[in-house]
Amino acid sequence: MPISGATSFITCTSRVAQPVKSASLSNLQIAPKILNFSHATVVLRKSNKVTSANAGKFVHLEGKDFYVKNAGARPFASREVIAAEIYQLFAPAPEQFLADHCHFFMENADSQDVYIASKVVDYQDFGDWMTEADSADALKRQYSDFPDKSFAAFKCNANEAKELCAELESLRKENPGDWWKSGTNFFLAPEMRTPNRALVDQYRPKASRLDIIMKEQFSLLPEQHRKEMQVHLAVSQLIGDWDPINAFYRNMGIVTEAAGAQHVMRLDFGSCFDVGFNYEPKETGFQTAINQRPAVFPELVHAFAEKNAVFSKKLPQLVEELDQLPYADYAKSIAGKTEWAESTRFQIAYRCALLKRQAHNQNVIGDIIRRVLIDEAELGPGLKTKEVLIETMNARIDALINEQCGGNDRIYDWERHNPELSYSIREDLSSKLAVDLQPLNNALWTHPVSPKIGSEINQNRSGGDLFF
Ligand SMILES: Nc1ncnc2c1ncn2[C@@H]1O[C@H](COP(=O)(O)OP(=O)(O)O)[C@@H](O)[C@H]1O
Ligand SMILES: [Mg+2]
Repeated sequence: MPISGATSFITCTSRVAQPVKSASLSNLQIAPKILNFSHATVVLRKSNKVTSANAGKFVHLEGKDFYVKNAGARPFASREVIAAEIYQLFAPAPEQFLADHCHFFMENADSQDVYIASKVVDYQDFGDWMTEADSADALKRQYSDFPDKSFAAFKCNANEAKELCAELESLRKENPGDWWKSGTNFFLAPEMRTPNRALVDQYRPKASRLDIIMKEQFSLLPEQHRKEMQVHLAVSQLIGDWDPINAFYRNMGIVTEAAGAQHVMRLDFGSCFDVGFNYEPKETGFQTAINQRPAVFPELVHAFAEKNAVFSKKLPQLVEELDQLPYADYAKSIAGKTEWAESTRFQIAYRCALLKRQAHNQNVIGDIIRRVLIDEAELGPGLKTKEVLIETMNARIDALINEQCGGNDRIYDWERHNPELSYSIREDLSSKLAVDLQPLNNALWTHPVSPKIGSEINQNRSGGDLFF
């Protein structure tokens, strides 16, 4: 058993990133690394129902499994990889790489097209995991105090949700040209956007019922899982992600560690920073966000406003202010309790403060953006330049530390009053950055830092990750 639930959550990724001990200017010169996937072989998997118009492929390369997907033109694909790399500094997410030479296994690909290869983990989207009655058994194994009443209710809901999902899937399969019509998609010819009313009337009540059940499932989860979900939502907001959990309850789910423990994980960072949906910048992507939602889906309670379709220096109050999310109804169901929000913000701000100090105030995050973002020459209209993107991220981080947490002194106090949690955050971040992070408070520098950190890092390095 870990010292605390929080410890287990934040240490569940094993990644050791490239050392960023000093965010040196030489990184400016490094071209983004694009891995050659010409020797990858396709792996057939019956699990992982991918509900995406743009389904990718599971492949095997040099002893590792990847999910490879099309992620748009280079500026978009590189942003997605950057978002994943930054995200991992805060919460569990799979490692992602840019990949080329995928034309051997991706249809209509050119050898130079850039794809995203995401290292496969033992992960299930909530849309699948919550509809499996067995998930309740896993919860009971992990949390012996998981109440019998919740256990029984989870199983019952899972069975009903599974049936509903199957019925909805059949309706989509039976109406492949109709179910996705939005009625407001003005890019389509009028005859293409007229929703099939009979289908809407049949589909919507079932989809509404599914939303109610899923909401209940989230609320039945043990507090530790719900707090992890809240951290994920907050980190997603920090990087301006529009899609932390989608209408099929995908992009967030449960990862099972080798030792069997389960934690919340996020993946799919295609709508982060200045990018909206469908490889459009957020600032011109309002209509797409509104119009792409099919008429068969239940109407949203929380309407999205055009003025919120931005990625700006103004950071919404994490976890509590969800206006900048096009589909805030879904985010609400993973937001957890308001009374946990302050702690969540401090945990994230604490990581930001450690990152800032580690890079001598130059900013580890800026360094990742500089290293991975592809050619400004290829910038699409409406996308921010590298330096503006970095400035915007820095401003959002400062807003979190200063406006939402009350400034550096309060973060120092938080560290002092939360020795276990702050220690485990430092341990987690130390392993990810391959450095030995000390407490922010000088007075705490005598607090023992795990003597294992250095040796673990060396072992991982000499283990020879193929890609670093
Ligand atoms: N690294 C991974 N490990 C396990 N499953 C993955 C991984 N990456 C993606 N998947 C599965 O594939 C689905 C689609 O991937 P995602 O990145 O969300 O693509 P899309 O942009 O098409 O939604 C995910 O919801 C998840 O079920
Ligand atoms: Mg997705």
